[in-house]
Amino acid sequence: GAPVEVDISTLNAGEMKTVEWRGKPVWIIKRTPEMIASLKKTDGKVADAESKRNPDEFTPEYARNEWRSRKPELMVAVGICTHLGCSPSSKFTPGPQPSLPDDWEGGFLCPCHGSTFDMAGRVFKNKPAPDNLQVPRYMFLSDTKLVIG
Ligand code: FES
Repeated sequence: GAPVEVDISTLNAGEMKTVEWRGKPVWIIKRTPEMIASLKKTDGKVADAESKRNPDEFTPEYARNEWRSRKPELMVAVGICTHLGCSPSSKFTPGPQPSLPDDWEGGFLCPCHGSTFDMAGRVFKNKPAPDNLQVPRYMFLSDTKLVIG
């Protein structure tokens, strides 16, 4: 599949955009300062905080950091659950919501078997999904443009 160029100039903090790359949905999320801060709180609750599992498949070198991204404010991840391939839904609002723990900090919920992921796509402990969401290969062409693939 060809690389996909994405213009993020109109993406506001807290917003998400989905593009298709190699037949897969790729999420691009402009994280708010609160979303970035939430990652410290979920560090101890996720199964693979430092993305050490299968890094070649799931986390390129430049994303092996706290944010799993090149820039803290921009999340880029493949929107496919690493369990059996369902599409998780975004649950950005912190706090109690159906199917989510009371101390929810914001992230994603897979409707199929209840796997949850934080605002860096890191899977929470004791969930069926074995790995964090995949971070695709990408780079910035400018401050407002990136290329995936
Ligand atoms: Fe997502 Fe099973 S496919 S939890």
